[in-house]
Amino acid sequence: MDNDIGISTEKRDGVLTLHFDRLQKKNAITAAMYQAMANGLIDAEADDAIRVVLITGHPQVFTAGNDLEDFTRNLPLRADSPVFQFMRQMVHATKPIVAAVSGAAVGIGTTLLLHCDLVYAADNARFSLPFAQLGLCPEFGSSLLLQQTAGFQHAAEKLMLGEAFSAEEACRMGIVNQVVSTDALPELALAQAMKLAALPASSLRMTKHLMKASSRPAIEAKIEEENAAFGRLLQAHDAQKAISTFLERRKPSLD
Ligand code: COA
Repeated sequence: MDNDIGISTEKRDGVLTLHFDRLQKKNAITAAMYQAMANGLIDAEADDAIRVVLITGHPQVFTAGNDLEDFTRNLPLRADSPVFQFMRQMVHATKPIVAAVSGAAVGIGTTLLLHCDLVYAADNARFSLPFAQLGLCPEFGSSLLLQQTAGFQHAAEKLMLGEAFSAEEACRMGIVNQVVSTDALPELALAQAMKLAALPASSLRMTKHLMKASSRPAIEAKIEEENAAFGRLLQAHDAQKAISTFLERRKPSLD
């Protein structure tokens, strides 16, 4: 099913696909898109016919992260902001979440992968966490999860320098399961999701619970700490300047 806010969804053989679908803006995510993603995950939890969620984008771009224009209009400073609702569902999801990443996965586009269970990438995927470059800081658990997965030095490099890194490097760091060609990615990711959908749901749910439940309080505490800092930095000079620089380069002054 398509919609006009930039997220399309499809239910097929027990798999709910949530698809970033706003190519003209490089799948940059607006508050309305976060709300649609949150609602999709809530529906998936409630619907016994859905056994697995697959998050995907476009062959050229997974997502350019927060839509910086929408973001500055609706600063997500409240716990009920759509981005918080979406990421809360990601953290608390009881069903497996698979991601398929082609092209750029910027900011939250990489952060959200740390909360998925299986991540497949195309060889054109480019991951980045450019928070420091934007005068911001890591969000939604990435300062904890990335170092747990990749080790401190790799996490520090990616979170401090904020430079983009390849699918191969992401795979070596452990945040991606497998890298394939851009053409092969959709089929592989769907096949893996369908394999999961065919397994006993209660076994998968218990496996995920056993792997994640005991570490969740630490992740939630880190998210609270990160997001309080993120909110403060967002309103400070460096972030305001970095964001307006990005937005203004699209609208050169005629003076
Ligand atoms: N927010 C709002 N609009 C965005 C956007 C974002 N995060 N990323 C891209 N866009 C828009 C551009 O403004 C442009 O719009 P226009 O055609 O109306 O001018 C359009 O998407 C195409 O973007 P462009 O930069 O020309 O594409 P590209 O292929 O050269 O580069 C990216 C793609 C993703 C590498 C680049 O757009 C980028 O770095 N985006 C910003 C990423 C970012 O800082 N995200 C925030 C993280 S918190």
